[in-house]
Amino acid sequence: MTEATTRTAPALTIHAAAPEGGSQWWREAVIYQVYPRSFADSDGDGMGDLAGITARLDHLAALGVDALWLSPFYRSPQADGGYDVADYRAVDPRFGTLGDADALLARARELGLRVIVDLVPNHTSDQHAWFAAALAAGTGSAERSRYIFREGRGAGGEEPPNNWESVFGGPAWTRVRDRADAPGSAWADDGQWYLHLFDSTQPDLDWDNPEVRAEFEDVLRFWLDRGVDGFRVDVAHGLVKAPGLPDWSGHVSMVEGVEDPTSGGPGAPPRPAAEPVRAPMFDQDGVHEIYRSWHRVLAEYPGDRVLVAEAWVEPVERLARYVRPDEMHQAFNFPFLVSQWRAPDLRAVIASSYRANDLVGAPTTWVLSNHDVVRHASRLGLARTGKGPNGIGAADPQPDAALGLRRARAASLLMLGLPGSAYVYQGEELGLPEHTTLPDDARQDPTFFRTHGAEKGRDGCRVPLPWEAAAPAFGFSPTGASWLPQPAEWAQLAVDRQAGRAGSTLELYRTALRLRRELGLGTGSVAWLPGFEDSATVLALAVGAGGPGDVLVLTNLGAAEVALPQGWRVVLASGAVRVANDGGVLVPGDTTVWATR
Ligand code: NOJ
Repeated sequence: MTEATTRTAPALTIHAAAPEGGSQWWREAVIYQVYPRSFADSDGDGMGDLAGITARLDHLAALGVDALWLSPFYRSPQADGGYDVADYRAVDPRFGTLGDADALLARARELGLRVIVDLVPNHTSDQHAWFAAALAAGTGSAERSRYIFREGRGAGGEEPPNNWESVFGGPAWTRVRDRADAPGSAWADDGQWYLHLFDSTQPDLDWDNPEVRAEFEDVLRFWLDRGVDGFRVDVAHGLVKAPGLPDWSGHVSMVEGVEDPTSGGPGAPPRPAAEPVRAPMFDQDGVHEIYRSWHRVLAEYPGDRVLVAEAWVEPVERLARYVRPDEMHQAFNFPFLVSQWRAPDLRAVIASSYRANDLVGAPTTWVLSNHDVVRHASRLGLARTGKGPNGIGAADPQPDAALGLRRARAASLLMLGLPGSAYVYQGEELGLPEHTTLPDDARQDPTFFRTHGAEKGRDGCRVPLPWEAAAPAFGFSPTGASWLPQPAEWAQLAVDRQAGRAGSTLELYRTALRLRRELGLGTGSVAWLPGFEDSATVLALAVGAGGPGDVLVLTNLGAAEVALPQGWRVVLASGAVRVANDGGVLVPGDTTVWATR
């Protein structure tokens, strides 16, 4: 992503509201991401499960969110934390049963919480029945045509069909005969290769095959019939590949996307002129027809169901194409997540997000953390902010924990003050930092192994949650088992330590979500507050349900205190503000305040 350098405040437009008469809850919803392996474990095996989530849904109701998004809980060998699905219609026994999924949906409904589930259509697990059939059926079979199998290049087809790299590191192709399960199998001599943009256990489907399209429409219906409110669509920009699978030597990283579309990545030699500029595996125009067809499927169901795109696509105008009126409903705003902690950068990303989404009539979304990035309480404490590394290890430079938490609270209060829909990743409401000293032998993320440890991977943001300070595994599991070790310092961050404690991060989130609702911040309009439009250190937005102006959301990203403009009264602050001798309010650095008149 390029850094914003603009020093002139781009004009903000009016945030698109729901069309007349439409309820469209998702336009302003705060949606909480549950990572099922790490939320709550009911049976004591150290792995979170659906019954554990159901038992803890009260926490989400008390927090004040509108909906939850569940990362995958389907049958899966868990080679990529469930993003390797072996059966899209079954719950993995580690997580429970379909009955447990139904019970979760029912309890959520009782509490007034909507539920979005994850859909992983770019690839299946290599343990999916289709892939087993493809291996067995051999070259040229109908079974192989559901995936992207090709002959290799060079003498004897020894070279992969093209030069693509896996997003997780290493080549994006595996030769059938090189699979660990090849010896002694019917395909032991098979020279074909299959494409996997991620791990070799995650073969890419061929979306040119009508059978693949029909299957996923059916999977959508399976879950819609059970009552889910929508789907978060994994790698939504990846399903269709450019014809001929042309070579492309650019570099793609998760969340951030193509790092430099003109040079092929930092430090990389210039790309050969013959290669396409747009990455041939991402953001191809053909994906949009798929989402139009899914839109039609959802529209057959009552009750405002939604599709949310996980798409690392730039610029925002390209991303907005995924949320045109007949396609998806929301797309994650990763440019906001990866922004440097600098006022001009954030100002530019906020303005362009509103502008691009307004053009297609979609709500803007906001997100700071998820299961793929260093938690923002740590990311913002690194010497260089922005997306940050893929994981942090004990030997790496460590974040400044106090600075990170201070900025994280300010960033969260900024995000929750912005009209649109916001995503909260489990544990950020506790101010949880990344686990930055996980021992390597505890790591499970395939990115750690595929990069031979050069990238530590995403386990540090996936550590099971602390619920009760004095309980085994801090209340995550009844036996004290935990699939990743929890840092001892997390005791003081447990839910029971923070609930009801004035000034805790949990109470900050609870109050913010209550006020956001009461003040109508999720919908309505927003404008830059006059006087701060070009500030190098302060972001000041006038937000309002009826029009900009009811509420001031001010973030001071500088070192010096900033005086709150006259006439405003602070209703919530991410850190302590100070009253000056003249009675004015001074907002310290790395602090956000919400104020009313
Ligand atoms: C994006 C998901 O968020 C990530 O966790 C996963 O590894 C990749 N897609 C591949 O499915």
